[in-house]
Amino acid sequence: MQTINIGILGLGTVGGGTAQVLRDNAAEIARRLGRNVNVFMVSTRNVGKAFKVCPDALFTTDPFEVVSHPEVDIVVELFGGSDTAKDLVLQAIENGKHVVTANKKLLAEYGNEIFAAAAQKNVMVHFEAAVAGGIPIIKALREGMSANRIQSVAGIINGTSNFILTQMREKGQSFADALKLAQELGYAEADPTFDIEGHDAGHKITIMSALAFGTPVNFGACYLEGISRLESRDIKYAEELGYRIKLLGITRRSAQGIELRVHPTLIPECRLLANVEGVMNAVRVDADMVGETLYYGAGAGALPTASAVVADIIDISRMIGADTANRVPYLAFRADNVREQPILSMDDITSSYYLRVRAADRAGVLGSIANLLAEQGISIEALIQKAVLDDNQAEIVILTHSTVERNIQAAITAINAHESVSAPVVMIRMESLQSLAA
Ligand code: HSE
Repeated sequence: MQTINIGILGLGTVGGGTAQVLRDNAAEIARRLGRNVNVFMVSTRNVGKAFKVCPDALFTTDPFEVVSHPEVDIVVELFGGSDTAKDLVLQAIENGKHVVTANKKLLAEYGNEIFAAAAQKNVMVHFEAAVAGGIPIIKALREGMSANRIQSVAGIINGTSNFILTQMREKGQSFADALKLAQELGYAEADPTFDIEGHDAGHKITIMSALAFGTPVNFGACYLEGISRLESRDIKYAEELGYRIKLLGITRRSAQGIELRVHPTLIPECRLLANVEGVMNAVRVDADMVGETLYYGAGAGALPTASAVVADIIDISRMIGADTANRVPYLAFRADNVREQPILSMDDITSSYYLRVRAADRAGVLGSIANLLAEQGISIEALIQKAVLDDNQAEIVILTHSTVERNIQAAITAINAHESVSAPVVMIRMESLQSLAA
C-alpha cells in the first residue's frame, strides 16, 4: 500500500490530537483511503512529548526543515499566529507541498496570497479545522452546497463567548464572573481579547463568506463587536421577550452587496441556533434550493479539531495525482470566477433592533420616544416598560421591525438627545433567522 508522508508543524493540542487520530484510526483510515498516512516528521519544542505521541517520526525544532524535507508530501500547519506561519506555508507551497492548516487568522488575513501561490504550484490547501473545529462546514459550503445559490450564513463560532453568554443567562452571572470561570476552566486565554471581542469569530465568518459567495477573503471589511459590554439585564429582558442573545458571525447577500459582521444578536428562542449552549458551535446556512441547514458540534478541542485536520489529509491524499484543473477550488468557485463584491458598511446593513432606553417615568415620554423612531420610518414590534428605578426613572425596552442601520443610528442619536433620557441607549441587533428560500 502506498504511503503518504506528512510533516506536522507544531505538536500542541491539535498536533497531538492529529497524531493520535492517525494512530488510533489508522486501520479505518487506510480502509477508506487505500493508502497509509505516516507522520514522517514533526517540528516541536518539546521532543519528549513528541516522542511519546509519534515515536517513529523525525523530530526537529526548526519548522522550516519540515517544509523543505523532500520526503514530506503534505505539510500540516498547526503553528498558529500569522507571521511565521505565513512564511512556512508559502515556503511549503514553493517546495511543492500540499498544505493542511487550522489557522483561521492566517487565511482570513493572507488567504488570497496563499491560494494564488498554491494555484501557481498546483498544490492543494485545505482548511476544514480553521472554522468551527470538528464541524465539517467548509466541506458543506464548498461541496455539499454546490448546487445552490447561498443566501446567508450565520453561526455561533466562538465557543468561549458562547460559554460566557450561557453562564450569564443560565446562572445570572456578570460578564466578568463568567469570563473568570471560562479562564479557570481553560476555555478562555489569560488575554481573552481575541475571543470576546469577536476577532476569532470574524476570521471564521470571513472565510465562510468567501466560500459562500465566491469572493476573495476580506477580513478588513468585517465588522467586529464582541460581548464584553453586554449586561446581564439585557440577557434577562431578551429572555422575557422570547429571545436569546448569541455572538453571531453573519454574512448575507443583498442586492447592494454582502453583509459581513460579528456582534451580539437577539434570536428567537424557538430557533435551534438559540439553543446551542456552552462551548458548542453551530452554523446555519440558508440556500435557495435546499433551504435552511444547520451544522452543530465541537468548535475546539484536540480530537474534534484533529478530526477535521485528518479529513483534509485524507481528501488531499485521494486527490494527489488527479487532474489539477478539476480539483475542488480553494474558495469553492473556480479561481477565475472569484470576484470582488462590495461589502456593505454597517450603515447599509438591514436588521431589527433591541433598544433599552432609560428615561424619566412621566406622561408622554414613551410617546415621544416612539415618535423619534417613527420619524426615521422605524416600525415598533414591541414596546414595554421593564422597570421603574428608584429615582423616578424607567427602563423601556423596544423591539423594532427590520430597518436599515443608518435609520436606527439616527433615531438613537435623537433619543439620546431627548431631555428625558438619562443614559445612552443600549442597542443590540436582532435576527429572525427565517429562511429566504421558497
Ligand atoms: N478559541 C476558539 C473558541 C476556538 O473559543 O471557540 C478556536 O478557534
